[in-house]
Amino acid sequence: MSKQRTKLVVGNWKMHGRLADNAVLLEAVAQGVRGLQGAVKVGVCVPHPYLAQTQALLAGSPVQWGSQDVSAHEQGAYTGEVAADMVAEFAATLAIVGHSERRGYHHESADVVGIKAERALAAGLTPIVCVGETLEQHEAGLAQQVVGGQLDAVLAKLSPADAARIVVAYEPVWAIGTGKSATAAQAQDVHAFLRARLAQKGAAVGAVTLLYGGSVKPENAQELFGQQDIDGGLIGGASLKAQDFLAICSAAAAAL
Ligand code: 13P
Repeated sequence: MSKQRTKLVVGNWKMHGRLADNAVLLEAVAQGVRGLQGAVKVGVCVPHPYLAQTQALLAGSPVQWGSQDVSAHEQGAYTGEVAADMVAEFAATLAIVGHSERRGYHHESADVVGIKAERALAAGLTPIVCVGETLEQHEAGLAQQVVGGQLDAVLAKLSPADAARIVVAYEPVWAIGTGKSATAAQAQDVHAFLRARLAQKGAAVGAVTLLYGGSVKPENAQELFGQQDIDGGLIGGASLKAQDFLAICSAAAAAL
């Protein structure tokens, strides 16, 4: 039962950052990650305007970068939207899709999230597909039903070969930015459920990287990442502080 999947830790900066602050953070992360000697894959998903800066500062480092969203459209008259191909032009490799803040505030349906995952893949990006239940759904015992439905909507759009290229992040909405992480056992339960659901599409799909997100901190990261089906984390607030983010990356290495 030992896990052979490598760990992945990705920072989601959300709508934070300024050029000067980013430079300090990115340089510290690039430097700190060298100490991990490749044991853990690390990435940062930055606001679109900072992709060029991120590329310039991280090129040649082991840290990957990407966006927090891509458009469901390839190109065209969609004011304010950013296409996956545009993100890829900055040598990005990652794109978060279906974050609960986009599903919630921007009314993205499960179907749209599936199309975004397709667009990211077509542009050569790895979509980090976020799924998660609200507090209300959690309390009603609907977590598996909700995340299963969100995952199915994405898998329905992808061939088994493409589905094997995604990353899935379980982010319970009630744990995001609240300081109240899911317990390691709660997260593991949902991850095991998601992995079984993925495996129905083929063995390679069952082996995709499954991240946990929601109030991951240096103090709880190692226990979370030590769970059988938790392959790393998607980190919000703590990814804005180099020291905390690097401590979380080290916890991932320690959980291997
Ligand atoms: P926090 O780590 O700030 O709870 O955010 C989690 C998240 O939404 C990452 O995508």
